[in-house]
Amino acid sequence: MSEHIHSQRDGGLLTLRMQRPDKKNALTRAMYAAMADRLDEAERDSSVRVVLLTGGEDCFTSGNDVADFIQAPPTGLNSEVFQFMRALFDFSKPVIAAVAGPAVGIGTTLLLHCDLVYVSRDAQLKMPFVNLGLCPEYGSSLILPRLLGHVRAAELLLLGQAFTGEQAAAWGIANQALDDGAATLARAREMAQRFLDLAPSAIVDSKRLMRAPGREELRKVIEEEGALFGQRLRSPEAIEALTAFMQRRKPDFSKFA
Ligand code: COA
Repeated sequence: MSEHIHSQRDGGLLTLRMQRPDKKNALTRAMYAAMADRLDEAERDSSVRVVLLTGGEDCFTSGNDVADFIQAPPTGLNSEVFQFMRALFDFSKPVIAAVAGPAVGIGTTLLLHCDLVYVSRDAQLKMPFVNLGLCPEYGSSLILPRLLGHVRAAELLLLGQAFTGEQAAAWGIANQALDDGAATLARAREMAQRFLDLAPSAIVDSKRLMRAPGREELRKVIEEEGALFGQRLRSPEAIEALTAFMQRRKPDFSKFA
């Protein structure tokens, strides 16, 4: 259990909300574990028909808790973050994301595994893995170049360039950019209601068909990325970058040339 993950049921809609505002909803091991548990329960519970993932009206998430990365890095495929991403990857019912404010690291990566994504126009999305001495995760090294072409994906993944909600919608990472966090959440809820009005098994069958092509290839890439990410977390480059974040200074990679 984590007090930083709030779950709410409204009929067939389960809303999971990341709520750790003092750390910009940075995700701890306990938060991943709680989200994995809620998703696994929702998978088994036929009365849950759609899941909405959000961080509220101001902030989606600043990504993995950096202190956790230093003190308790994920160790393999059974770690809490993998349990959460596996539960999301295998979730058979629709998942909608409502994104406002920062969506950093896994906060952007996880959107690639949702079915509908709504963003506030000025949301700040970013995958600064290389900037932290790390590498892409959970299939983004496969999905993004296919979706965006290599050169644009390289700006996002190799340079860690930030982009707005408006750009995310223009590039097909999100369905629509809305004026602010409140409008984004309202739109996501409206679309959840549309799912609730449709035939549940037909949605599940259709999602499975849409996700099936290339799924095993994607699973392999996720494992390969995960193994490399784990190694990179212990690398001197990553330790320098993560320590620099905690010390509020720029990392110095000059000694690794
Ligand atoms: N892990 C741990 N703590 C984090 C965090 C993270 N991922 N992101 C933010 N925080 C903490 C800050 O250290 C700060 O804590 P403090 O008040 O105790 O000093 C607090 O949250 C507020 O963050 P701050 O950076 O001051 O807010 P901001 O509005 O200026 O910037 C972000 C917000 C999200 C843009 C910025 O915090 C950021 O870039 N974080 C991302 C960290 C990251 O690289 N995550 C990816 C990991 S792969």
